[in-house]
Order: sequence, then structure tokens, then C-alpha cells
Amino acid sequence: MKAWPGVVVQYGDLLDLPHEARPVTLLEGGTPLVPVPGLARELGARGVWIKFEGLNPTGSFKDRGMTVAMTEAVHRGAGTVICASTGNTAASAAAYAARANVRCLVLIPRGKVAAGKLAGAMVHGARVVQIEGSFDEALSLVREVSDRKTVALVNSLNPFRIEGQKTGAFEICDVLGAAPDWIALPVGNAGNITALWMGFKQYHELKGFGLPRILGVQAEGAAPLVDGVPVDCPETIATAIRIGKPARGQQALEAARESGGKIIAVSDNDILEAQRHLASQGVWVEPASAAGVAGATLEVRTGHLDLSGKRLVFICTGHGLKDPNIVTERYSMPETIPARRSVIEGLVEI
Ligand code: F0G
Repeated sequence: MKAWPGVVVQYGDLLDLPHEARPVTLLEGGTPLVPVPGLARELGARGVWIKFEGLNPTGSFKDRGMTVAMTEAVHRGAGTVICASTGNTAASAAAYAARANVRCLVLIPRGKVAAGKLAGAMVHGARVVQIEGSFDEALSLVREVSDRKTVALVNSLNPFRIEGQKTGAFEICDVLGAAPDWIALPVGNAGNITALWMGFKQYHELKGFGLPRILGVQAEGAAPLVDGVPVDCPETIATAIRIGKPARGQQALEAARESGGKIIAVSDNDILEAQRHLASQGVWVEPASAAGVAGATLEVRTGHLDLSGKRLVFICTGHGLKDPNIVTERYSMPETIPARRSVIEGLVEI
């Protein structure tokens, strides 16, 4: 068996990245495309798969873009990387900066970052600061201070992040042997939908694969692309996509339109229900990552989407372990019982 080399080596020829740059990698990508026949039956589809991006090194799809952004930043001699984040970008930037031995500064909205993401950013030694404001404010601040050659912005405004995240589309086509009919994914700052659409188009031109239609899904309380206006105080339990002014919003709308798909919003309850439903099939994703499933379910139920004969891939962007509190706070804690064999025997019989 040949070891997976990471996305820069695997797809280097297809990425706009200086060839002589030495990859900064944690062997990201190559994530499984998990078939979920139960969901396919429920949605009336020919096949449903989950692209389980939570199985990347830091637990989210961000690593695909971060390996490329960090490789380029180091190549050009940047000594510091900086980002704003709802959590996953922070953890990914911190890990890749540690790998490359460059300084990392991350700005996060105070109190709105899930435990597993915050811990990830901290453990790798990044300088993590909370701002009294939203992700959108944090992003405009880091944009202002990153116009120096030695400081690299590693948010998805950085085109190299987009280059890396394209590879998710390549992998889906490589494994299925074709493009799916639909992909569904959560939309926050809108980098991923932009990147995946670029990737599918590149493979279409290069290898003649078809093009999927894209269903982008936002949370109702943070749905600027559905409302058509920025949201000043976005609010959702899916903190990863708690974003009111997506940096690549226009590109996201174009990607959805060009593909023949759309961007819709779902409620927090629908997101939590989809998270539980995926977990019941053995796949635990963080709340934001269940938004695509919630969206497709809603569209099918309301008669806006007919998947008969179609193949659908859900991009599940982050692992459930990122946000354990969302589960432990909502379920009752396990009961405590005496440590006695007879009691356990009683339980086994249930
Ligand atoms: N899913 C998860 C788990 C995310 O962390 C994000 C974005 C998205 C979906 C949306 O992707 O922004 O490319 O549209 N998280 C960013 C962060 C904003 O800072 O970690 P997008």
C-alpha cells in the first residue's frame, strides 16, 4: 500500500503554487467518502455519500487549504501567519504554523468558539486572542494588519487556501469515477463553496467529468446570502458558520447559480436534528457540518428537490469532537449506579 502523501504532493500539478516550494504538510486530505444507504433511501436518491472532512489532521476541511497557504507563506519568507476564526481555521493555522515553525496569531469572537477548536489552537502554541466582537469584525481587523510582506493572512481570502480546498472536489470525482449530481454543504465565509466549485470545474475541463449542482446551506440566524443583506449580529448554535458578512459571498452566489443549485437557510433545530440523525448512522459531525443534510432533507420534504436516480455527496466539514458541549448539554448525563455485578446483569438483560 502506498502512503497518502498529502494534497500538495498528490495534486501539486493542478494547484497554482510555486513548484519549488517545500510542502508544509500533515498528510491532510484523502478523507473517506462514506456511503450512507439509509439516508439515500430516506431522500429517495440513487446514492448518498458523506465526504468526512472531520477526519483531516486537525479535524476539519481547513487543513486542505492550510497546507497550501502555509507552504506558500513559508516559501515567500513570512515569519508570522494571522487569521480570524470561528475556531477551525484557528486550530488548523496553529498546527501548520507549529509544523513550519512560524509565529501564529489568531483572533476569535469571545465566548463563541467550541471547546475542541479553542483547545486545538492553544495546544500548538498559537497566540490566541478573543475580541469583544464578531468573526466579521475580527476578519476586518486582520485584513488591515496583514498587508506586510512578512505577515501572511491565512483566512480563505488568501487564494492559496482556495487552491488547497479545491482538492476535495478532485477526491470525490476520483473515488466515484464521476462527479455527483449534487453536493450539499454549509456556507459561512463562503471559501469552501467557492473552492469546491473551482475544483469541479477544473476537473470538468481537464478530465471531462460532469459538474454537480450545489446546495449551499446557511443557518437561519446567519443567512446573509439568503436574506440578500449582511447580518449585523449573526446568531446560531452552529458557531462555525456564525458569520454575517461572508468574504466570498458574491462568488458563493455565482457558484450556486452557475451550477444550477441554490443557497438556502435552515433552523438551528433542523441542524441539531440532522446532526443526531447522522450520528444514528455512525457518523458524528459538528453542528455546522450537518447543515447540508438538514438543507437537503428540508428541500426534499417540501418538494423543492427531487433526487430520484441522483447521486448526492454531503461535505461534512468538521468532526463532532470539535464541539462536545453541544451534545453533553442537550442530553441527560449518564445515570450513576453501584459498582455491583448483579446491577450490571440487570442492565444487560434490558
Ligand atoms: N463548516 C465548518 C465546520 C467550518 O468551520 C466552516 C468555517 C464552514 C463550514 C464554512 O466554510 O467559511 O468556507 O464557507 N469556518 C471558518 C473558521 C469561518 O474560522 O473556522 P466557509
